[in-house]
Amino acid sequence: TYVVMDNCIACKYTDCVEVCPVDCFYEGENMLVIHPDECIDCGVCEPECPADAIRPDTEPGAEAWVEFNRKFSEIWPVLVTKRDPLPGAEERDGETGKKDKYFS
Ligand code: SF4
Ligand code: F3S
Repeated sequence: TYVVMDNCIACKYTDCVEVCPVDCFYEGENMLVIHPDECIDCGVCEPECPADAIRPDTEPGAEAWVEFNRKFSEIWPVLVTKRDPLPGAEERDGETGKKDKYFS
């Protein structure tokens, strides 16, 4: 599976949802997640994210993000159409510690 990681938070560009063939992105207030059981591992979303927030679960440190993505994909609604990024997305792109600072 692929997962959405820290840098989506407070940016939420949503380019990713437009390319997913199985519509497995779910939307929270300030980030998206991927449902790990629905993702077919096609990889097309990874290069579409301007924040470089999407990674395969084989990346170092991805394990905790798989569980995070699973947890919230079961609670949040699906998103299939691109939206405007969050205000300030460009300024926040690449900040460290976004989960502690902004996740809600
Ligand atoms: Fe969707 Fe493919 Fe990305 Fe998985 S890897 S979330 S199936 S676009
Ligand atoms: Fe987030 Fe990147 Fe998608 S910032 S909403 S994972 S395009």
